[in-house]
Amino acid sequence: MITIEKNPETKSAISAIMQSMFDQRNYLADILEYLEKPLTPGMERQVEGILKKYGMHGGSLALDERILTDNPYFRNISFDKVDFPTVKYSKDVIPKRTLMNTDFNRQLGKYLFHYHPVGYFNIDLAMPSLKEGNITWMSPAPSEIISMAEGIEKGSGKCLTMGLGIGFLPYMWLLKDSVESVTVIEHNKDVIDLFNKVIRPQFNTVKNLEIIHGDAYEYFNEEYLRGFDYAYIDFWESNEDGLDDYIRLMEKKVDLPHVDYWIEGSILSLVKQIVALYLITLYQGRSITDFITSLDDDNRRLARKANKFFKRRTDVISTEEELLHLIHDRNVLRDMLSVPVSM
Ligand SMILES: C[S@@+](CC[C@H](N)C(=O)[O-])C[C@H]1O[C@@H](n2cnc3c(N)ncnc32)[C@H](O)[C@@H]1O
Repeated sequence: MITIEKNPETKSAISAIMQSMFDQRNYLADILEYLEKPLTPGMERQVEGILKKYGMHGGSLALDERILTDNPYFRNISFDKVDFPTVKYSKDVIPKRTLMNTDFNRQLGKYLFHYHPVGYFNIDLAMPSLKEGNITWMSPAPSEIISMAEGIEKGSGKCLTMGLGIGFLPYMWLLKDSVESVTVIEHNKDVIDLFNKVIRPQFNTVKNLEIIHGDAYEYFNEEYLRGFDYAYIDFWESNEDGLDDYIRLMEKKVDLPHVDYWIEGSILSLVKQIVALYLITLYQGRSITDFITSLDDDNRRLARKANKFFKRRTDVISTEEELLHLIHDRNVLRDMLSVPVSM
């Protein structure tokens, strides 16, 4: 079993980690009542006060609408309301001054505090989207454009993605000279048919775009993935469903450097909370069994993975850096999630 030495450095690190988790919880409670609402000038000052209180930037909350209006997909691809049996395209207006998340969870500082950046536009914006029941699979919103920027940037040669959505990523890749072809795995035939009918004809490219109707899990194996220069896995809606899918993928133990996962850092922020609580329990000498049983099903699965993983290790943690490495390092977390546990 891993051991955390009790010394002044680990003591102060544990207390800073706990404080950052309290701060994050309080921040979320404070900001929640302003989200998705049009801000009055008074509310705006209150939001700015909240951001300042938790150590976030002092810049303006007003976003430059060019992040959308200069984006090639937003500019060139249009679709109005279309209904298919299981999915539909629709257009919702985001009223001006509505406070929204502009990215997924980001880490602030070196401990556990994570936050969604927020902002608003000064104009009403019509935002197209792909919906399946209550799920909004995709829209070219700031949070999507910002969170996919790295995947768009890294695409070159033969590219693969899992999850078609509205074809935003394929479109952005196909615009790049360095991208030769794009392959997409999509499990919903209606998503493909709708895309082929409405959006694909607007793609002005001679490059090969192949859409395969199939399940991502069937194609997620080393042999198939090695056939591409770059792969970006994106078949979840957001953090919570993403965590479930991400864990299933990690359990397949595919470890290839050219494969990335949409909002991986944000998904892992949920895992880090449980790893930190596990290590705090260990440090304080409290019962791991009681800790695990106190959690809900999803978190219990994470804690059981952490327990199995840390039980196999024999290292002694004596510094803050070593402790934070266990919590934040992507490879440590990926390894931990790959450990099988029965449900
Ligand atoms: C977030 S959207 C993808 C957005 C896309 N990257 C874009 O740029 O427009 C997720 C897509 O994954 C699809 N999907 C969900 N589960 C899947 C699975 N197991 N296999 C393949 N596709 C899946 C959904 O139908 C949806 O079209």
